[in-house]
Amino acid sequence: MYNINNILRENIKRLVPYSSARDEYQGEASVFLDANENAYGSPLAQQFNRYPDPMQYAVKMRLSEIKGVPARNIFIGNGSDEAIDILFRSFCNPGVDNVILVPPTYGMYEVSANINDVEARKVTLTPEYQLNLEGIAEAIDEHTKLIFICSPNNPTGNSINREDIETLLANFNGIVVVDEAYINFSRQKTFIQELTEYANLVVMQTLSKAWGLAGLRVGMAFAAEEIIEVMNKVKPPYNVNESSQQLALEALANVAQVNEWIKETLIQRDRLVLALKEFDFVLDIYPSDANFILVKTTDANGIYNFLVGKGIIVRNRSKIELCEGSLRITVGTPDENTILLNTLQNF
Ligand SMILES: Cc1ncc(COP(=O)(O)O)c(C=O)c1O
Repeated sequence: MYNINNILRENIKRLVPYSSARDEYQGEASVFLDANENAYGSPLAQQFNRYPDPMQYAVKMRLSEIKGVPARNIFIGNGSDEAIDILFRSFCNPGVDNVILVPPTYGMYEVSANINDVEARKVTLTPEYQLNLEGIAEAIDEHTKLIFICSPNNPTGNSINREDIETLLANFNGIVVVDEAYINFSRQKTFIQELTEYANLVVMQTLSKAWGLAGLRVGMAFAAEEIIEVMNKVKPPYNVNESSQQLALEALANVAQVNEWIKETLIQRDRLVLALKEFDFVLDIYPSDANFILVKTTDANGIYNFLVGKGIIVRNRSKIELCEGSLRITVGTPDENTILLNTLQNF
């Protein structure tokens, strides 16, 4: 049976988190001389001399409305990359514990494992880019703390079968992380609605993709309150800066614009797939639920270098297992996609 106390690191159970000036006094006052800030201001038009809200309350309240999740079930990180790292630091004892990764998938899970000296046990996806449940079951032992599933998956673009993820959630005694960075482009439903069902589920999303805010570094994890409490304890006190909080809040008022872009991206994705299929050097294009497509070609290196020479950069994924010969192409604006397709005519 999953029980957070069985998987939490002992040092994190004992951890007394840093208590900031703003944690210790939250009431109304007119003179704040408690945080060693510059009381005079900032040498800017906008003032940033005060520390930001460590708990990002306003942004969480807005996210809560949009996502239909109570604010106490939301963690906000300096990008979802920070949430990945915090999960390692909270649950995985360096040199002892392990996590399950299912490549080809997002590269940061393995980098974070390596940084934290945690063994990454890899169970390759099936040739259809779905989970090898038997392989995962064999790889799990008493030191397995986390399983990372990316759905829609980067770099393959497809969604992972929902029933398979639910099988893991129901049977694994550790935490199943479902990374939904690309969920806004997907036909699939989010796993957020399953949070009431599974105490060992962490759903990650980000403002870096559909929301167009990669430069602000704002990522979210949605989970049971007891997991969020641990993540908040482990995070740096002011992990999301004031300007990012302000701008994220402003952007989150603009759902209509984001939905327009998502619609256009899906139209452009279909257009790219249809047009790319016509080229002799394109062998296959995998069905995508994301804002990119994985294109299997006869000569990935040749096409990649040719495009670089024309000032067009795609991602060469041809060295990755199950992605041999493949390029990952992000869906651009209509003009950018036209430039890409016209340029490829000359390859
Ligand atoms: C699957 C996946 N998760 C997370 C991230 C990182 O997101 P963030 O910008 O929120 O750190 C990416 C970025 O490419 C990604 O592809």
